[in-house]
Amino acid sequence: MKKVILTGLRPTGNLHIGHYFGAGINYIKYQDNYEFYLEIADIQALTDNFDNPEKVKKNITEITMDLLSIGLDPSKVNFFIQSKISEIAELTVIYSNLVTVSRLQRNPTVKTEIMQKKEIFGNNGESITYGFLGYPVSQAADITAFDGELVPVGDDQLPILEQCREIVRKFNSIYSEVLKEPEQILSNTTRVKGLDGNIKMGKSLNNAIYLIDSDEVIYKKIMSAVTDKSKIKKDDPADPNVCMVYYYHKLIGNKDNTDIVCMECKKGLRGCVDCKKQLIQEMISFLKPIRQKRKYYEQHPEIVENILKEGTFKAKAKAKEQLQKIKKAMKIDYYDF
Ligand code: TRP
Repeated sequence: MKKVILTGLRPTGNLHIGHYFGAGINYIKYQDNYEFYLEIADIQALTDNFDNPEKVKKNITEITMDLLSIGLDPSKVNFFIQSKISEIAELTVIYSNLVTVSRLQRNPTVKTEIMQKKEIFGNNGESITYGFLGYPVSQAADITAFDGELVPVGDDQLPILEQCREIVRKFNSIYSEVLKEPEQILSNTTRVKGLDGNIKMGKSLNNAIYLIDSDEVIYKKIMSAVTDKSKIKKDDPADPNVCMVYYYHKLIGNKDNTDIVCMECKKGLRGCVDCKKQLIQEMISFLKPIRQKRKYYEQHPEIVENILKEGTFKAKAKAKEQLQKIKKAMKIDYYDF
């Protein structure tokens, strides 16, 4: 029997190359070795986008197309929509008795996010909603509803997984050993840096190259990428290690080519504009197969819809079984009809 692997993405925007190298390429490997559930976490997205359900709705298909275009195979991966699995909502309510409010308030991920969302939750988090504070509980429900054993996440999510394991242990100690403690799989590529040199590529930072960016957009973005500031003239020698252009050459190019870029940069044999133009071509060729695949799905929205429907249908059956097991352990399986 294959182990269950589960991860989730909030449908709030398109995927960028940071998502691709940080997570997506690993998903492609997992799909062959595990029973893979990929949750489009719309309910979680609503916790900080409650006033913008249209955005969440639109991004459900956008993100699914992005994931399909990088090579996830819908016959191997169960794509499902969180809000369609009411069992997750039920489990969230059940688990809410197993966690204290102060423990949630001390969760480092939640704390950081509250600080980042001052305009919604107030300067000191005084306007935090019950739903946002409780999203780790709902995420524990996401994972355990499928008996998830392995959970690929970024390091920012580790406290959320720790919280999930605490809920699992508490449940098992009160009722019986029904739930599995999930293990994280940290993505092995470190964070992809942004065009501005920020250690994180991110939507809110406005420094990302998206998988769907057009040639013109890629051109503009790479032309504006941060290079070695000490280099003034075309033939000044420079330090490739402080240059984002070299950084992306390394990320997507082959080693021989990258070595040449590095050597020429150090010796002052390569101007930044030419170096950027070369990277633009490489980036466009790198994204080409992804964009072609995406185009197919864009032209066939009914296929995307079916993938989501079928995946959700299968996920629902699994979650239903798991919820029954959980209710039985709690002895609240009365009056089942
Ligand atoms: N919180 C995760 C994120 O923002 C997304 C997510 C939702 C998730 N449900 C999940 C990740 C379950 C792993 C498992 O990245």
